[in-house]
Amino acid sequence: MPVALIQGASRGIGLQFSRTLVNRGTTVVACCRSPGSATSLQELKEQHPSLVDIVQLDVTSDAAIQQAAKHVHSSHSGKLDLLINCSGILSPTGRGETSLKEVSFKALEQTFAVNAFGALVMARHFSKLLQAGEGQVGQQHTDTKKHHSAILVNMSARVGSITDNGLGGWYSYRMSKTALNMATKNLSIELGRGRKKVVCVALHPGTVDTDLSRPYHKNVPKGKLFSEEQSVSYLLSVIDNLSFTDTGKYLAFDGKEIPF
Ligand SMILES: NC(=O)c1ccc[n+]([C@@H]2O[C@H](COP(=O)([O-])OP(=O)(O)OC[C@H]3O[C@@H](n4cnc5c(N)ncnc54)[C@H](OP(=O)(O)O)[C@@H]3O)[C@@H](O)[C@H]2O)c1
Repeated sequence: MPVALIQGASRGIGLQFSRTLVNRGTTVVACCRSPGSATSLQELKEQHPSLVDIVQLDVTSDAAIQQAAKHVHSSHSGKLDLLINCSGILSPTGRGETSLKEVSFKALEQTFAVNAFGALVMARHFSKLLQAGEGQVGQQHTDTKKHHSAILVNMSARVGSITDNGLGGWYSYRMSKTALNMATKNLSIELGRGRKKVVCVALHPGTVDTDLSRPYHKNVPKGKLFSEEQSVSYLLSVIDNLSFTDTGKYLAFDGKEIPF
């Protein structure tokens, strides 16, 4: 049975990944920091009790990450086929900085902790489980030879691209996603060695209709705001077609590479 772990599964894109993967027959370890208030996730578990395992995890807590890794080791045959680090914040206030005046150590630290440091510490504690996985996460695979390795996805954002930055602003968010991209590249090198390789990619989901982007929806051109279902369906097509030659890449929802 394929096993996927979604870190940041309570809402938005992470919740939609959990729904879609469960519908494919994948066992989903759905991590969130407050299971008691994650009502949509609880509903998914009620509908699919044998496929959904809700695990408490605040991605800024090393102890919680270690505990979750131990749980997956003992409860899911000691392997993971797909891990998606999905949690993210624009900033602790929910809005990106528009100018230097709004920059603070505290906001930078919190944003980096959730968006970049957490994903890296996840990789540290889950890499052995991924090395034991096979990357088979759904019934839609036609070419089973394509996936030799488990897959680690870090949910990035196009605004993390240094090359693509024409507007400025959003210091904490942009910098944390750039750091996440570097972590992904580094991981692709370390976890690309030896026999048990893991494919590591950073993905941009498009602009998606979630709580995170809500304050900025009015600026999004018509037709450019994806529903969660749309975005996850595009992202899973990208994930389904990954092979080891893609490791270390920074890819958009349409499969195109984004320059770092
Ligand atoms: N939406 C977009 O347009 C867009 C565009 C580019 C990239 N992205 C990226 O896509 C990812 C998902 O974003 P989204 O749009 O789905 O956002 P969202 O709806 O606001 O969901 C954010 C998720 O992150 C979780 N989270 C926040 N802090 C956490 C912590 N300390 N520990 C564990 N989980 C934590 C939230 O959990 P709680 O429910 O507990 O708060 C929630 O599940 C993010 O990495 C985001 O940067 C989104």
